[in-house]
Amino acid sequence: MIERDETELPERILDEGADAPEREFEAGLRPQSLGDFVGQRALKDNLNVVIEAAKKREEPLEHVLLYGNPGLGKTTLANIIANELGAQIRVTSGPALERVGDLAAILSNLGKGDVLFIDEIHRMNRTIEEILYPAMEDYALDIIVGKGPTARTLRLNLERFTIIGATTRLSLLSSPLRDRFGMTYHLNFYEHEDVGKIIERSAKILGIDAEPGAVRLLSERSRRTPRIANRLLKRVRDFAQVRADGQITRPVAEDALAMLNVDAHGLDDVDRRLLLTIIEKFQGGPVGLSTLAASTQEEIDTIEDVYEPFLLQLGFLTRTPRGRVATDLAYRHLGFDAPNRESL
Ligand SMILES: Nc1ncnc2c1ncn2[C@@H]1O[C@H](COP(=O)(O)OP(=O)(O)O)[C@@H](O)[C@H]1O
Ligand SMILES: [Mg+2]
Repeated sequence: MIERDETELPERILDEGADAPEREFEAGLRPQSLGDFVGQRALKDNLNVVIEAAKKREEPLEHVLLYGNPGLGKTTLANIIANELGAQIRVTSGPALERVGDLAAILSNLGKGDVLFIDEIHRMNRTIEEILYPAMEDYALDIIVGKGPTARTLRLNLERFTIIGATTRLSLLSSPLRDRFGMTYHLNFYEHEDVGKIIERSAKILGIDAEPGAVRLLSERSRRTPRIANRLLKRVRDFAQVRADGQITRPVAEDALAMLNVDAHGLDDVDRRLLLTIIEKFQGGPVGLSTLAASTQEEIDTIEDVYEPFLLQLGFLTRTPRGRVATDLAYRHLGFDAPNRESL
């Protein structure tokens, strides 16, 4: 069994929650135009067309829903869309909208053509969500005035605006809400080559000297995710400044990644602990998500949103109706013999 000592845990590379300095760091690296947004070719081509068309017609863009794993560029893309439209952007999030009045106030203050970005839109509560339906469909706000038998609905007209919603979990969105988005785009994990381009771009902005071999190594270990690529670059830069003369050579990058316990696939301690738990405590699974969360002391949501997608993508984990299963690939990656399993 693996003991977890909070005091010795290294700063987590995968953690979703970006704190204030990190958000600032990320904002500095955020591409501002579609042309600077690396990868996601099909999505970009598509967006280019609809944005141009909306501008030509001088109409607001249809509502856009972006979904994909954390760190793949949803927030970045929302800002880029607003930029490309030459529109003002207002930013809020599902959990931040606590009262119906909060959303009503934001909506009634939107100007013509403005963009309202709602991050984590799957976490918006239902009563608030219902305000959005007529707002998205008819640009109207239905307000109930009075109580009981004399209550009546007042309809207020709104300017024509665009909502961009972002979510990591499309399945948690109600279908009436989903249906009101004219366009839904899925952000995929990036090709290693594109991650390499993102690292090069960030290194240039930050004035970091990184050898091509080092860039390649980092891009292979970044879980095909831009946010992680930028984080690793930052950590490796610190390491290079302290241990080398600031230049990120391939050996420096290798040493830094070894110190961070990031392995050849980009897995970190938590990933390995998840897989080891399934293998050692549950004979490879299947094990239910909540049991797995309890045994690893990770949050269910964090496992599902942050860790699991990449492990599934690598083929280290599969989902079955009875729970999560560690695959033969995972056994081998962790240095075990593949188990004898006939029944799966
Ligand atoms: N396609 C891309 N090209 C360049 N940088 C990107 C790209 N996608 C994301 N990034 C960078 O990765 C970081 C995380 O992106 P973000 O938009 O915040 O992800 P999300 O909102 O999906 O969690 C940002 O610093 C951003 O600059
Ligand atoms: Mg975001």
